[in-house]
Amino acid sequence: MSSQPLLPQERLLSSSNPKRRMILTTILVPLLLIAGIVFVSIKGDGKPKDNLGLAKYYLQSSPVIDGHIDLPEFARAFYGNDITKFDLNKPTKGHVDIPRIRKGSLGAFFWSIFVECRDDNGIDFLNPTFQVRDTLEQIDVSFNLIEKYSDTFAFASTSDQVEMVIKQGKVASMFGLEGGHMLGNSLAVLRMYHKLGVRYMTLTHSCNNAFADSAGIFESVEERWGGLSKFGRVLIPEMNRLGVIVDLSHVSDKTALQALSITRAPIMLSHSAARHFNNMSRNVPDDILAKIGRGKHQVDGVVMVNFFPVFASANPDEVDVAYIADEIEYIVGKTSKHHVGIGSDFDGIESTPKGLEDVSKYPHLFAELLKRGWTEHDLSLLAGGNFLRVFKGVEDVSKKLQSDGWTPSQEIYDKRIDLKPIEWEL
Ligand SMILES: *[C@@H]1O[C@H](CO)[C@@H](O)[C@H](O)[C@H]1NC(C)=O
Ligand SMILES: [Zn+2]
Repeated sequence: MSSQPLLPQERLLSSSNPKRRMILTTILVPLLLIAGIVFVSIKGDGKPKDNLGLAKYYLQSSPVIDGHIDLPEFARAFYGNDITKFDLNKPTKGHVDIPRIRKGSLGAFFWSIFVECRDDNGIDFLNPTFQVRDTLEQIDVSFNLIEKYSDTFAFASTSDQVEMVIKQGKVASMFGLEGGHMLGNSLAVLRMYHKLGVRYMTLTHSCNNAFADSAGIFESVEERWGGLSKFGRVLIPEMNRLGVIVDLSHVSDKTALQALSITRAPIMLSHSAARHFNNMSRNVPDDILAKIGRGKHQVDGVVMVNFFPVFASANPDEVDVAYIADEIEYIVGKTSKHHVGIGSDFDGIESTPKGLEDVSKYPHLFAELLKRGWTEHDLSLLAGGNFLRVFKGVEDVSKKLQSDGWTPSQEIYDKRIDLKPIEWEL
């Protein structure tokens, strides 16, 4: 088939065993060729002629990798994390269930690990809370769902695993942490989350934290650090060393610009709309888009577009498939087709665009872009190719830093007093 898949297929055919390789070439290849000729002569090239059919056809080999889905939060908010209380094989009240995942060609997604910001954290963010416990519960409920529905989901924490799981026809399930406030001000906690599979972290959610200032959501919050704190400047290299992707969704502009100047690895925005369309501090502005790329003074990255109409537009009722396609094309115009992706925010948003109501609808967005002249290759980059390039880049930097001798940061938040060593008395 002429289709140019996101995930290279050659590994499926390659074999280290010379005998098997001979069988492949002498028997299988001619057979496949004959079958192909017969098939094409009967069926044409087998490609659907309508845009929606063609979009679905292309998504079979390059399925959607969504940067942000709030399924764990859906479980917590509506069922107290009791996974016996809902059935993902049946229609849920949210935007995500297994039949709709299959219909929409969702091949992988980040399960958003999220607990709310608290407003009683105190000026130094030191008041004790249960946020670390609650975060662990969100990781636990995600693992429980992946295991319960193991015919559909498979946990993945490397780019290779994502590709392998997609090839097996399952949905690669990665974890992304939505906010530095869930670290309890501790790099040790970050390292343990990494061991549990967390592969990105938005530096903030909608509140400032010990590491960085947030953009706020519906109104900007008063800045505390003027971007990154001193500790935040230690956090980013530690994320680079571990291989946790620096995610700039939710952060203030100053935080984003400073993080871009510090990071040694590619970055992502897991679920952001463009500020050009709606002047909200939560949305990504042009001057930050200008820093994302592979040119001089730029950082490689992927901007995964949020579907929430309230972020997309000051007039949310107008947001439909074409509007989201406009946003994607705008971000492409400011960066390139190598820097866009999908970060729907499904199950975490109260309304959805017309025509993109749930995970079954991704193909409609791809059909809209086909109508606008996007090629199969372009679509495969948007669907997940760009994200995978960024993820691999982050993994490479992590390996390099560790082989250069970088060791776990011993830095602690300077406002903590509980880790003061006691003096030895002889
Ligand atoms: C966007 O909003 C900010 C903050 O409210 C304001 O300073 C700025 O002038 C606005 N920009 C435009 C183009 O309206
Ligand atoms: Zn969010």
